[in-house]
Amino acid sequence: MEILRSVLLENRKKRILLLDDEPAVVRSLARIINQFHRDWELEAVTDPEEAWLRLQRDRFDVLVTDVRMPKVTGLTLLERMQMDPRTACIPVVVVTGWGDYETKLRALELGAMDLLEKPVEPRHLVTRLQQVLRWKEGQEILAALNVRLRRILDRHLRELASERMGTILRLLIVIQQRNPDLALHSMRVAVYSKVLAQLLKLEDSQCREIFWAGMLHDVGKIALPDALLVRAGMFSPGEITIWQKHCQYGEQILRGRTPWSGMLPTGEDSDSGTSSIVKTAAQVAISHHERWDGTGFPYGLEGGAIPLPGRIVAIADAIDHATRPVAWAHLSSLVVLPASEEAHKAFDPRMVEVFRCHEEVFRKLSDRFRRIPADNEGWLASVDTQLCGEWQDAASSDSDESSARCLSE
Ligand SMILES: [Fe+2]
Ligand SMILES: [Fe+2]
Repeated sequence: MEILRSVLLENRKKRILLLDDEPAVVRSLARIINQFHRDWELEAVTDPEEAWLRLQRDRFDVLVTDVRMPKVTGLTLLERMQMDPRTACIPVVVVTGWGDYETKLRALELGAMDLLEKPVEPRHLVTRLQQVLRWKEGQEILAALNVRLRRILDRHLRELASERMGTILRLLIVIQQRNPDLALHSMRVAVYSKVLAQLLKLEDSQCREIFWAGMLHDVGKIALPDALLVRAGMFSPGEITIWQKHCQYGEQILRGRTPWSGMLPTGEDSDSGTSSIVKTAAQVAISHHERWDGTGFPYGLEGGAIPLPGRIVAIADAIDHATRPVAWAHLSSLVVLPASEEAHKAFDPRMVEVFRCHEEVFRKLSDRFRRIPADNEGWLASVDTQLCGEWQDAASSDSDESSARCLSE
């Protein structure tokens, strides 16, 4: 305790405020305390209003007060102290000659730590003050420890989050190195997905997760053979089957499920420490080619059984195929365009409506992210939430009324 006190608390004299409307009583209390503890700093006041101001302004370790005083009673002062966070933690010892049972009970209910009868017995008063001051010091040590632990926890959480984002950015770099067009596609899908999530009025944290899940939705394609990853011509049926596996590959990469998982120390699971961003990204990787009517792949999930982030990224993916038709011509047999007749069968109908109400916004986004800038240093990392925020504003000012109409339908 002594070590904690010296490390966590500043070395200062204990300060006690004495309050009684009779000057002779406060002088007597001060004399008694000084006989035993000259190292305690005493302040004596006779006006409760002055005491209240001092308690709010200065730093006291304990208040010793009378109950019955003109204008403001000791009980009123206790009530005020309880209500104010600056004074609520200051312990109070009541010294009174007006000792009816109800008053004592009320003082205890209002947080008084002890009640001493006048005339007070000197050793009783001083011993009680010692105990109260020790209790207060314990509270201060706990509070200081809490602050330190919170700081350490916050630092570790920040380091962990930054390591996770670093891993995501490295995956994006691999996508960019394997196929720059795929990196651009991933970025546009991320932006469209976040704008859709914002238009659907999802919470900010969900919109952020969906943005990064959109970035990584096709990460499984880095496991495809080069011939399929950079193909310009049409796919054969056999090639389509291989290409479709990018959903499972993506989920495996993001969940960290590999033959080497067994090498982790006992009790550690590669999935257990995964952040919600990466979990959502894995969910999207496996579900972004499912279709609302159950005709998608890999599992043929239907309607609400498809996770919401997967449904959002599915239509964002199709928006990119619709706005960049040439680059993705080899996939034309697999793609349902969001403006087409079949869109309501392939995608969540609510999202199709949101897209149709804001088609112009997506067209503008498509133009903006048409190519990789010549100076592409840190290009992927620069596509952050702030960029999407611009388009959230554009989308809401574009058509607040139509948005409300779409969402209420
Ligand atoms: Fe895909
Ligand atoms: Fe895609």
